[in-house]
Amino acid sequence: MCEIYGAQSINLEFEWGKSIDLERVKEVLENEDVKVLTAVHNETSTGAVNPIKELGELAKEYGALFVVDAISSLGGIEVKVDEWNIDVCISSSQKCLGGLYGLSILSISDAAWEAMENRKVKPRSYAYDLLKWKMRWIPKEEGGLLVMGRRSYPLPPPTHLIYALNEACKMILEEGLNQRFKRHQTIAYATREGVKSIGLEIFPDEEIASSTVTVIKVPKGVSDSDIVDGMLKEHKIMIAKGLRRLKGKVIRIGHMANTADQNHIIPTLAALEDVLYKFKVISEKGIAVETALNIIEKQLEI
Ligand SMILES: Cc1ncc(COP(=O)(O)O)c(C=O)c1O
Repeated sequence: MCEIYGAQSINLEFEWGKSIDLERVKEVLENEDVKVLTAVHNETSTGAVNPIKELGELAKEYGALFVVDAISSLGGIEVKVDEWNIDVCISSSQKCLGGLYGLSILSISDAAWEAMENRKVKPRSYAYDLLKWKMRWIPKEEGGLLVMGRRSYPLPPPTHLIYALNEACKMILEEGLNQRFKRHQTIAYATREGVKSIGLEIFPDEEIASSTVTVIKVPKGVSDSDIVDGMLKEHKIMIAKGLRRLKGKVIRIGHMANTADQNHIIPTLAALEDVLYKFKVISEKGIAVETALNIIEKQLEI
């Protein structure tokens, strides 16, 4: 993506599902002139959470801007934009915020605005030029310029999506952030223990396993399509297959916003058990459901 926009990039590859090697990141920051460090917070394809706080400390130490993809974390997992030195935090309306698909959510630090203002190559996009939004939409007290003297949009916004997001944000605040994060954690834990109780394995290392998506290795005796298509056809429950190098190797269960709830996850586990039973991968149904339910009931009491 960076290269499409003309940036030179150094791609640091780490084993999928394992923790990032912070020493290697530090080494590159030390030896190269890195202007921007970028990372995904919650990796939706592997179900692993990256150490954003630690990466933010490194970015600050070496004077790089820090750009974070919090698309599948914001609203479900804590994201401390200022404390973690995130200069540009990117998220979207449809995942853990529980809005509708179609809006990008951004936060931008003073340093990031400054970098945009000092660009040698001017942006080629009209709609995605954030400086236009700064000029016309952001209030003066928040650093905007309001060149037209009043707030106006650079282009017509999708009003219906903004209303939906506003409502979703009100629901988040009504629930309370801590309660919401705990709910995601409980459901994720119950899902992991549920699938483990029937012999399945979680793909990422468990200490970095996500609260918003559970990635599970496809067991022997069945394919990812058998599971995903079977659950959809027989139970009208949609889960996802693996992407790129995990294609065919994992299945993914999302539990974000309203789906991080026992009314969603218990039927999902029941459907998974049913399909695995039909393919003779398991010989008894109900164990994953019972394990998950026990955890949810106990955790909710705390
Ligand atoms: C971590 C992550 N980044 C980026 C994207 C792309 O988000 P969008 O579909 O809102 O462009 C996704 C979508 O699944 C994602 O999970």
